[in-house]
Amino acid sequence: MALSFFTKNKKALLARCRDDYSTKMRLKYAPWYHAMERQNGTNVKLDGRDMIMLSSNDYLGLSFHPKVIEAGRAAMLKWGTSTTGARMSNGSRGYHIELEEKLAEFLGREACHISVAGYISCMSSVASFAQKGDVILADKNIHSCLWDGIRLSMATVERFSHNSPDDLREVMAAVSPDATKMMVIEGVYSMEGHIARLPELAEIAEEHGCFTVVDDAHGFGVLGRQGRGTVDHFGLNDKVDVLCGSLSKSLASTGGFVAASTEVIEYLRTHSKQTIFSAAISPSQAACAKASLEIMQSEPEHHEKLWANTKKYRAMLKSLGLDTWESETPAVPIVLGSKERVYPFWKALLDKGVFTVMSIAPAVPAGKDLIRTAISAQHTDGQLEQIAYAMAYAVKKM
Ligand SMILES: Cc1ncc(COP(=O)(O)O)c(C=O)c1O
Repeated sequence: MALSFFTKNKKALLARCRDDYSTKMRLKYAPWYHAMERQNGTNVKLDGRDMIMLSSNDYLGLSFHPKVIEAGRAAMLKWGTSTTGARMSNGSRGYHIELEEKLAEFLGREACHISVAGYISCMSSVASFAQKGDVILADKNIHSCLWDGIRLSMATVERFSHNSPDDLREVMAAVSPDATKMMVIEGVYSMEGHIARLPELAEIAEEHGCFTVVDDAHGFGVLGRQGRGTVDHFGLNDKVDVLCGSLSKSLASTGGFVAASTEVIEYLRTHSKQTIFSAAISPSQAACAKASLEIMQSEPEHHEKLWANTKKYRAMLKSLGLDTWESETPAVPIVLGSKERVYPFWKALLDKGVFTVMSIAPAVPAGKDLIRTAISAQHTDGQLEQIAYAMAYAVKKM
């Protein structure tokens, strides 16, 4: 019997899934999607072996803090497991407003909007505001969620070289002065660990009347006073229109935020499809983030330990001659340059009980294939010693 048009199409899509080269390679070498059997802070168990986690984004190490755990438990008892609805309809609760007000105050902003994922918040920080006909100037190395926001907005995109004010100036010069413009950058680049050259970039944006969006998922909790982030680190709050980020890194929860002026946030609440048609963040997620935010302000020792650990770790990598792509933050890549070098290095670390994550082109620029590592305030001196030993072993194995 002849196949109908629709059946043929379905078969073609099934074949695409079955024959996909990247999926086949992923399943053959199994470098990703490892399910830990147990976790306690930076100690994890994988395939029955105790390991040190060296690639999570729990920068302040709060995901096992007793106050954070208790806050999540208490919120679930009080509010149930989920609002099962979008903020705009039946899903808004007092705890959403409370966290938004606390985040806005902490960041020195009039208003804030939280959502179920940093990905959603950052994507909507672009997609809610830019439209077809506008021009977006984007750093070439921004996160996938920002590229998705750009695509959804249907604005024209102009890329500039990573963290390069000179190139931004050049690209900007070719854009019509009458165009409605947006600049999209990260505060701290998640793969590279670079801090945005915000003073120069923001100045150029301002000269050209450009709306500025900064995704500070990896700067929040890490830089600035009490961890207020990259914009605070430079004292440039008045130069950035929209500050977005994640609750799933220093805030030890899951979710995202967008902070800005009241009129900008209210506009987002009217126009963001990701907000209007998606369920609100759960009680325990919000409560864990709120408890972490309070700890950031009352227990400075986590921030201090994070930086002490970062300095020790970076010095150790340097003594081994490893290339850390000039990372300036606790997100520290080990650039090895090709997947043929990355895989044995990653495997050697794993063999010595250190869990890291590989990132290979096209996820990173060609020639920058790397192991992505991140330091936490929870790493102990003993763990840092074990990591140093594993790194020295991996260098020999390469
Ligand atoms: C720069 C950046 N923005 C946004 C996100 C998304 O955050 P989340 O994982 O909370 O969805 C990430 C996560 O990796 C990130 O690195």
